[in-house]
Amino acid sequence: MRHKIDEISLQIDNLNPKSIKELEDLRIKYLSKKGEISALFDEFRGVPAEQKKEIGQALNELRQKATDKINSLRNNLSSVQSTKEESLDLTRTSSPTSLGARHPLSIVKNEIIDIFSRIGFTVADGPEIEDDWHVFSALNFPPEHPARDMQDTFFITKSPDILLRTHTSSVQTRVMKSQKPPIRVLCPGRVYRNEAISSRAHCFFHQVEGLYIDKKVSFADLKQALLYFAKEVFGEKTKIRLRPSYFPFTEPSAEMDISCNICGGKGCSLCKNTGWVEILGCGMVDPNVLEACGIDSNEYSGYAFGMGVERIANLKFQVKDLRLFSENDIRFLEQFV
Ligand code: PHE
Repeated sequence: MRHKIDEISLQIDNLNPKSIKELEDLRIKYLSKKGEISALFDEFRGVPAEQKKEIGQALNELRQKATDKINSLRNNLSSVQSTKEESLDLTRTSSPTSLGARHPLSIVKNEIIDIFSRIGFTVADGPEIEDDWHVFSALNFPPEHPARDMQDTFFITKSPDILLRTHTSSVQTRVMKSQKPPIRVLCPGRVYRNEAISSRAHCFFHQVEGLYIDKKVSFADLKQALLYFAKEVFGEKTKIRLRPSYFPFTEPSAEMDISCNICGGKGCSLCKNTGWVEILGCGMVDPNVLEACGIDSNEYSGYAFGMGVERIANLKFQVKDLRLFSENDIRFLEQFV
């Protein structure tokens, strides 16, 4: 008996439960009604009378020791748990959240819109699936114009009248039909052309076109607006140059070059050693276009311009391959913040 008491006492000294659950199992093992200490009390009845005093005292001490030990272990374990709970900061984010970046084409498009909005332009929107009239006929394209060819334009198989717009000038047509001058709109959007995909061409790209119609709008107004734009995008030192060109919907028409912003006009691979890079087409709205849209060409005149957003983005960011813009490779996209 004495021996058993000493043995259990030693076990009690060495108790080391890791959790409240383990501790409860130990309590049951030693102190419950069927536990080991209770069993000793049962055995105690058979202890010879002369030993009862000593063994009884030792047994009581053992039970007290076990109870105290279990209680103190319980206190320790629950305080460890509650400090764990207290250190849980619910306001912290679970893991670092990385912010997305704007698409480079959106950055450039927004910059173009921002620059022109400072001189009174607002944004107009229109459908990407269009009809022949809004894309070509109203814009003075002759019936045999090559742009109407299947090779250049995506048509819907079932109808030769329905096509994917090849330029956002179709939105200008819609604005001219539905609004009265003065008109001062920007038409940003995606356009489609049936081109073989390469590093320099894609079957879709993005444009921002502009249209200004009022009384006495002149070519000088156009030139001044474009010079302002070029300086805002590419810097104060930027020069512009207008070369005569042809578009069915403008007369006269021009293409605008800017002094190369990479070499500053000295000549480099980007400007093919000319010192100039082409960035947009423009001109005075052809009176035929105004009339087709119900605007009196004797009273009103206007200018229009159109540029490719990819082209401007290339000049700003020197992206070598146009396809990168539509591949959604995050390593490319996250470089533009
Ligand atoms: N719409 C022409 C294009 O897609 C650009 C342009 C717009 C040219 C307005 C002149 C005036 O290339």
